[in-house]
Amino acid sequence: MWLHLLLLLCASGLLALSNNDAIDYLAENLKVKYDVIDNMNIDDGFSAKVTLTNTGDRDIMEKDWELYFNNIRMIEPDKIHPNGIEFGSSGLMVHHVNGVLFKLVPKADFGGFKKSTPVEAVFTSSAWMVAYTDVMPNWYITAPEGTPKTIEATKGEELGFVGPINKEEQWKRSKLDQYDPYNNGDRISMKPVDHGEAPIPIIPTPYNMDLSKDTTVHINRDEWVVVKGNELDFETQYLSEKLGIDQVDKLPSGKSGIMLEVSDFVSGDPINSNMSGAYQMAIESSGISITGVDAAGVFYGVQSLVALYEGGDSSRIPTGTIIDFPRFEYRGQHIDIGRNFFGKDDLIRIVDAMSMYKLNKLHLHVTDDEGWRLEIPGLPELTEVASQRCHDMTGMNCIMPQLGSGPRDDTVGSGYLTVAQYKELLEHANDRHIEVIPEFDVPGHAHAAIHAMLARYHKYKEAGNMTAAEQYLLTDLNDTSEYLSVQYFTDNAINPCMQSTYDFMEHVITETIEMHKDIQPLKAFHFGGDEQPPGAWTASPKCDEMDIDTQYLKADFVYKLSEIVKRHGLEKIYGWEDGLMNGETPYNRSRIVNDHALAYFWDNVWEWGRGQRSYIMANAGFQVVLSHATHLYFDHPYEPDPNERGYYWATRIIPTQKTHSYAPDNIYENMLVDGNGSPINRDDICQKYGCVPLEEDAKHNIVGMQGQVWGETIRTSAQLDYMVFPRLLALAERAWHRADWEKLGEGIERDEARDEDWDNFANSLGYRELSRLDALGVSYRIPPPFASVEASGELEASTEHPGLPIDIKTDIDDTWVPYTKDMVLSPSVSTVFLKSKSTDGAREGLTVTLDVSISGSAHVTVSCVLLLLTSVLALLK
Ligand SMILES: *[C@@H]1O[C@H](CO)[C@@H](O)[C@H](O)[C@H]1NC(C)=O
Ligand SMILES: *[C@@H]1O[C@H](CO)[C@@H](O)[C@H](O)[C@H]1NC(C)=O
Ligand SMILES: *[C@@H]1O[C@H](CO)[C@@H](O)[C@H](O)[C@H]1NC(C)=O
Ligand SMILES: *[C@@H]1O[C@H](CO)[C@@H](O)[C@H](O)[C@H]1NC(C)=O
Repeated sequence: MWLHLLLLLCASGLLALSNNDAIDYLAENLKVKYDVIDNMNIDDGFSAKVTLTNTGDRDIMEKDWELYFNNIRMIEPDKIHPNGIEFGSSGLMVHHVNGVLFKLVPKADFGGFKKSTPVEAVFTSSAWMVAYTDVMPNWYITAPEGTPKTIEATKGEELGFVGPINKEEQWKRSKLDQYDPYNNGDRISMKPVDHGEAPIPIIPTPYNMDLSKDTTVHINRDEWVVVKGNELDFETQYLSEKLGIDQVDKLPSGKSGIMLEVSDFVSGDPINSNMSGAYQMAIESSGISITGVDAAGVFYGVQSLVALYEGGDSSRIPTGTIIDFPRFEYRGQHIDIGRNFFGKDDLIRIVDAMSMYKLNKLHLHVTDDEGWRLEIPGLPELTEVASQRCHDMTGMNCIMPQLGSGPRDDTVGSGYLTVAQYKELLEHANDRHIEVIPEFDVPGHAHAAIHAMLARYHKYKEAGNMTAAEQYLLTDLNDTSEYLSVQYFTDNAINPCMQSTYDFMEHVITETIEMHKDIQPLKAFHFGGDEQPPGAWTASPKCDEMDIDTQYLKADFVYKLSEIVKRHGLEKIYGWEDGLMNGETPYNRSRIVNDHALAYFWDNVWEWGRGQRSYIMANAGFQVVLSHATHLYFDHPYEPDPNERGYYWATRIIPTQKTHSYAPDNIYENMLVDGNGSPINRDDICQKYGCVPLEEDAKHNIVGMQGQVWGETIRTSAQLDYMVFPRLLALAERAWHRADWEKLGEGIERDEARDEDWDNFANSLGYRELSRLDALGVSYRIPPPFASVEASGELEASTEHPGLPIDIKTDIDDTWVPYTKDMVLSPSVSTVFLKSKSTDGAREGLTVTLDVSISGSAHVTVSCVLLLLTSVLALLK
């Protein structure tokens, strides 16, 4: 008997030991390869192959391991089964766990990981996969009782385990896809004329600017001071630091002063000149005055002066006058810190840049399925559990890994803002006249909150305190509804039929108001409301008790929420478009009791038929922020290149030029190409789905524009900057400034004027603004160079932002040298390598290879290939 027990103990001990050993071995030695095979020839999906090869020196025959990985598309979507399905012919089963988390386990007859013997699975997934960054890193392996280990081959940002994407059927989303990766010739055909200087001295372009070409003022510490205006402490301090001159209360004799002042009236355009943020500036050699209608106006005047100073030539600024005011009162940038966490430092860097370009709303997406990122006093589980991602079968410690966050809480998948950090961000933003709008996304996109409140339930239930257990529960425990959210969560919709759900929301609202109170009083509650998963609540006994059809439950939730928001003194309620409408029908405006109900319009993929929603809603009395995914989604790629980061569901590409060309005054003018890059027949779309016009008396409901950056594929600060900049500057340009070309009717004249404006803008980035971003430590995207060779051998190289430095080397001289305009290639050169750099030379972009065959002819054929290795390194710093 004793012997038996002892043997049993030893055996189980040995088993655990050998199993952990196998886990360690596999984590170390398993080579993983993920190949995208074909997007073009599979209906509604693509095929891919996963290859697992034991590269070590012994066979691993153990079978009680589990391998976890994130796949952003549903695997075998037609066959998904609760007990898993065969993973190709690998001998493994694949299970959908939740969200994008999948699990591989060996079948009983799996032949083991024999050394040097690949285990392969060819499988189908939904939608498409055309970019390296679609494949998530940090796969891991574990055993039921073991410690999970990240598989070495999949670690980090290099994504070296993703096979080459270099064939049409890999980089095209379908047969209809018109896009191919750009080559040198493509980039040349799109190049802006190089003006050799920045034609626009201030971005966003001021309304009216009359600056001298000849007379300049030299601002220096000996002669100049900033004279503080009433209640302009921050503006004064900011300007004095930026210009390196003193601030004083009264102008001393013998000094030249920059006078800051708030004044009721600013002459200029009679309609808009009294709008918050309006200012005028007069620059004379004897002194400078900046007058704003409010402190924000003074601040923007200060930013314009700083722009002239920093972008100009050794602190010489032109004399002249500026009259300026914003086109829209709402000029926002949205940042998703729910999917992956970006903290105070990253947010402050972005706020600094936003304020330079006169943006005034930071829409902070603080919660999503994958994480809750703001401490809420009284609900510690939101941060202890819901802000962390790790492998946790108990459900009590964290959210299961998503989006490549790996098995431990030590990646960007985990993290949150403490109350103190959030307040610091609020103060920093408030000083710079930026309103922070936190969004708590409900009822959908709430897996993290649901999970945390379940952990809380179990914790208190165990302690025998049922009142506390159920106090903030977000789900009906008897709900047997089965559904999948857009991102494949099976449990991401909070239940609208329980009082505890509203108590939870009320608690969050109360604490958020409290955090904002003494810094920047909260004006609006943003509840998200997007992508409610169909099927949720259909089998909830709690909802059965309510006398409301399931399809109206969400509207009812919003009406109730609106009353809570109002009861707490907030006059505004904000949501995404689908949070405030049912299909194409607006919710009953009069049942939303807040003075303002504002919706963000994102889902404008024209060929899907929802493009008219923003005007439907504006006409129905809702305020509208244009957030259109086709032009303003900065999580989409800049180019149709597999090396470019980002999702591309709305459109394959959003180059900076596309954001710059956005026409907010008539949204239908942006209906030019579909997601595949084919021209859209506007009449067809309008006939099929409708294109309601914006009613005259609803025009004031279009309050502004916003850029969005969703975080699924973004895991480092540099990646975040890459996606946001320089597109944010183009957003600011459109949100602040109505260009002359926008006033022209559509046609060739307008196209030419717009292209010319883009040329000027692109040069102003390269010759001026990007160096200011470098000084701020912003890792904006460095566009790849393109080049051509004249018959004489003269090399002409540039980038999308003329003025950025370029280095070159050749096949006969392996040393990088700075490119200069008069450079002539020796006739023996057959290959040129080019790379563009940041203005300070500290960062490098893609290396481009150019095959040159110099002939007597003036027309030379060049071809260009992206050098994958350097590009990936450069992107993923
Ligand atoms: C600006 O002035 C116009 C005309 O006097 C007035 O209708 C409008 O309400 C004012 N706007 C602001 C923001 O004060
Ligand atoms: C139950 O928990 C709540 C919250 O922690 C606490 O306030 C209350 O006193 C507890 N009740 C009992 C009976 O322990
Ligand atoms: C679930 O349903 C059972 C049976 O009707 C009921 O006794 C129980 O209280 C319900 N649980 C919850 C949490 O609603
Ligand atoms: C909208 O709500 C109001 C107030 O409850 C109600 O009087 C009105 O009939 C509703 N309108 C529609 C179209 O249901």
